[in-house]
Amino acid sequence: MAFSIRPISAEDFDWIFEACQDPEIQKWTQIPRPYTQDHAISFTRDLGGDVAVFAIEKALAKRPFGVIGVHSVKSGLADIGYWVAPWARNQGAAKSAIKLLLDEVKSWPEVKMVEARIGEGNFASQKVVESAGFVRTEITGLSCRCGDTEISAVSYQYAFKKILPPL
Ligand SMILES: CC(C)(COP(=O)(O)OP(=O)(O)OC[C@H]1O[C@@H](n2cnc3c(N)ncnc32)[C@H](O)[C@@H]1OP(=O)(O)O)[C@@H](O)C(=O)NCCC(=O)NCCS
Repeated sequence: MAFSIRPISAEDFDWIFEACQDPEIQKWTQIPRPYTQDHAISFTRDLGGDVAVFAIEKALAKRPFGVIGVHSVKSGLADIGYWVAPWARNQGAAKSAIKLLLDEVKSWPEVKMVEARIGEGNFASQKVVESAGFVRTEITGLSCRCGDTEISAVSYQYAFKKILPPL
């Protein structure tokens, strides 16, 4: 499998720009539409306001596979987002990257749980998080932002079994 994640850097703007021309990424994620090279350059600098953003890579591959990150951490809940470039799909990249991100945020003291808010119609992404061990919650009335539009969403969560220090 040999996937890995690493923080994005200024050199990542070109393949991020190219990948983000994909209609599925434009439909289901928060990226601006249309997505310009300036958007990609800004994103590598300010992370789009996210807490952390990682490139998904695979050993020996010519180009990175995609992006995964943590949008925010609130009340112990880390809200994550991800996309895989059209040239890299159906090879297990998203599933592996989610597991690697779980390993990463597990050590963040403030994080007790991880959530993926996914558009109601985004069945591919729902399948991916289920594959990575997330459980669909019963929470209703949720939305997530796609481009500049709020759409109905479902919530999948992953709870860490953290051992709390004695009182
Ligand atoms: C959804 C997306 C991240 C999947 O990435 P991927 O790297 O191709 O997914 P993986 O190869 O890791 O697939 C993991 C599992 O999901 C399943 N899956 C992936 N795409 C699927 C699809 N289109 N339909 C059904 N199942 C799918 C795989 O079969 C696999 O199942 P398994 O573990 O039982 O074998 C990618 O298509 C994408 O970037 N879409 C556009 C952006 C997006 O939707 N981002 C998420 C916003 S919430």
